[in-house]
Amino acid sequence: MNTTIPAIKVRNLTKSYKEKSVLKGVNLTVPQASIFSLLGSNGAGKTTILKILATLLRPDSGSAEICSFDVVRQAGQVRSHISLTGQFAAVDELLTGKENLWTIGELRHLLDKKEQADELMELFRLTDVADHPVSTYSGGMRRRLDIAMSMMGISPVIFLDEPTSGLDPQNRLAMWDIIKSKASAGTTIFLTTQYLDEAEYLADHVAVLHEGVIIADGTADELKDLLPRGIVQLQFKNKPELEKAIELLREYKVFNVECECRLDVQTDGGAKQFADILNLLNQKNVEILKFCPKQSTLEDAFLTLIGEKEGGHNP
Ligand SMILES: Nc1ncnc2c1ncn2[C@@H]1O[C@H](COP(=O)(O)OP(=O)(O)O)[C@@H](O)[C@H]1O
Ligand SMILES: [Mg+2]
Repeated sequence: MNTTIPAIKVRNLTKSYKEKSVLKGVNLTVPQASIFSLLGSNGAGKTTILKILATLLRPDSGSAEICSFDVVRQAGQVRSHISLTGQFAAVDELLTGKENLWTIGELRHLLDKKEQADELMELFRLTDVADHPVSTYSGGMRRRLDIAMSMMGISPVIFLDEPTSGLDPQNRLAMWDIIKSKASAGTTIFLTTQYLDEAEYLADHVAVLHEGVIIADGTADELKDLLPRGIVQLQFKNKPELEKAIELLREYKVFNVECECRLDVQTDGGAKQFADILNLLNQKNVEILKFCPKQSTLEDAFLTLIGEKEGGHNP
């Protein structure tokens, strides 16, 4: 396939459920063989976008293409290029894990469905239960099986709706490895997640969906660059010390006051201002338990972006 064609291209996409307008003009481009993560609060419309891209739901207006095929006019071609794991497990309870994979293999006319099923069971650490009916599986096992099903055959684009929800930390890490290796083998992965560390670790590109539009997109680092720099975090012994510090630092912008006697202070990022702050507190005998320059996370960026749009004052 021509690698200059984006794997996914979305232009001015809109969708309402009755009078409720969920997507109000979404634009996205995802290059081939990359991992893209769509972020947004609960109810932002992530699953709605995913369903439209997977041809399960028609958009009201705008366009979406998968490997240059239009999701409405060329739904058949789109379906042959994608596979989807929904937010809720879609496995057949009565069949064994392996049989679930074989069923998908048959639908996709795979000649080596049994070999692929065995490999995926191994990869997803389900070999021991491969011949047990799914009704005996734990939630995490079902989830893993569900995602294994999306990996039967070779789809250029895989959609994963909250792939690691309900997985324990060990299986979550294993899932990250599998997703990474799929992308390095040339598959494009489009995932939604509510875990920002997941997006930060996995995704080449992230986009934030808020109130029906994409309010920011780029690499995780680019999004973090939108945050103010030079925040210093100070931790105090107790609330009175914290309050004294707030009073002394009234010339500075401070935030996150409430949580755990901690204070974030905005500085110019230079050593002098950092030293000034510590001196000021020391001179007045305010006891500081810990201090450090704050490393921004994608979560900070996300909360800031959303907070700004809602007129909040998160840092
Ligand atoms: N079939 C539907 N009918 C009516 N409202 C819906 C339907 N599906 C989703 N919604 C509403 O649309 C909004 C976006 O839902 P969804 O796409 O599932 O968000 P997300 O996946 O980001 O949590 C929510 O407010 C949800 O309640
Ligand atoms: Mg959802």
